[in-house]
Amino acid sequence: MFDRRIAVVGTGYVGLTTGACLASLGHRVVCADVDEKKVERLRSGEIGIQEEGLAELVSEGVAAGRLSFVVSAAAALVELEREGAPVEVMFLCVPTPMGVGGIADLAAVEAVIEEVRDALPAGVVVVNKSTVPVGTTDRTAELLERDDVVVVSNPEFLREGSAVQDFLNPDRIVVGSSSQDAAERVAALYARLGAPMVLTDAASSEMIKYAANCFLAMKLSYVNAIAELCERLDADVVDVTEGIGYDKRIGQAFLSPGPGWGGSCLPKDTHALLQVADSADFEFRLLRATIDTNTRQYQRMVDKIRTAVTGRRKGSLTHKRLALFGLTFKAGTDDLRDSPALGVAALLKQAGANLVGYDPGISRAASAIDHTLLTVLDDPYLAATDAEAIVILTEWPEFRALDWPRLASVINTPLVIDTRNLLDPDVPRRAKFAWIGVGRRATDTGGGASP
Ligand code: UDX
Repeated sequence: MFDRRIAVVGTGYVGLTTGACLASLGHRVVCADVDEKKVERLRSGEIGIQEEGLAELVSEGVAAGRLSFVVSAAAALVELEREGAPVEVMFLCVPTPMGVGGIADLAAVEAVIEEVRDALPAGVVVVNKSTVPVGTTDRTAELLERDDVVVVSNPEFLREGSAVQDFLNPDRIVVGSSSQDAAERVAALYARLGAPMVLTDAASSEMIKYAANCFLAMKLSYVNAIAELCERLDADVVDVTEGIGYDKRIGQAFLSPGPGWGGSCLPKDTHALLQVADSADFEFRLLRATIDTNTRQYQRMVDKIRTAVTGRRKGSLTHKRLALFGLTFKAGTDDLRDSPALGVAALLKQAGANLVGYDPGISRAASAIDHTLLTVLDDPYLAATDAEAIVILTEWPEFRALDWPRLASVINTPLVIDTRNLLDPDVPRRAKFAWIGVGRRATDTGGGASP
């Protein structure tokens, strides 16, 4: 027997992870998507995204008869009904891309509501998992125009690449609703996970998601600013972050400086909350500064590269060949959305550099990268051939295992600019490379860290 009968609408990384994980907890789950081809692929076991453990969970769920895929939200309701008992909970996991002025575009949520309005059985709980502006859960309920259906907010806190792990080992479950009964029914779906439960109203629940992601973004912008100051004052950011991270109120996580933060969530959510604040007539200066610090970080990396490659602050990068190692927004994903690596690449291109890229998660053939921006190669040694520098932009652990003597034999100038402080500097140095990190002492960087 199944615990609950659930429809999940949208099979992106949030929807598919939610569906597969809920099925693994013993629920009967039908996942729906508007994309027929995607549904066909999912039925044949092809999950199409790089997410650790997800393919296995999907095939286990399908084999156990707890998980299936259909085209359209309405079809998911029909499928459950056909099995003899109606849907009890329907999750909305559709995209909410950044729309005009930074506010989330809710067209997909609205389309699903239109589609299921008359088909939802009485008493069903609709759960909003997509990140949406504060007030959207209540607005969704208004759009639905059904007194016998409750809409609840239940934000996800899944990191790309470790979404299954995050779903099954959550720090907390947040459910927001004016109906205590509906909130408890949603919370009960996760009971087996033993996580702390925060039951609140819908607006607070929506706010929790934004407040969490914007805090993470703020922490990263703060540490990137501290790294810059370390360079100017000849301190070492690695020691500084270790020193502050032991304070339990601060914590060690999310303290690695880099070329800036990106991805499908932090940029979108920071802009959306800023917009929400604007519309509430609140000048959220701290959040504005968080975003501005990040935008400036790309330029700071370009200045660092320029100084290192030309030996001068204002030297010219025109026709300088640079090998960019790591193009995705973080390691362990093939996602290029709002990647800081591509942000830095665009500025380097503007400065006249010739760019060649290599990324362990991106193949030349499959790359969606604009080839006028850079040429993607599948081999790091070919990418480094005749280059004036290697620039590490994503923290792929694979880069630690590169053959530095071999790179030294093909590169024009043995110089590596490590914007993630990924390498043990002694490793490239043994192969006569100059190594430059972010926020490191000049003595540790061969004297060339500060732009
Ligand atoms: C994020 C949140 O972590 C997750 O809880 C939320 O629900 C979705 O958004 P994700 O977008 O997968 O997850 O990326 P995350 O791992 O948070 O990294 C975001 C960016 O910060 C990346 O560009 C990453 O490289 C950068 N980062 C992260 C750093 O520069 N330094 C760090 O110490 C950590």
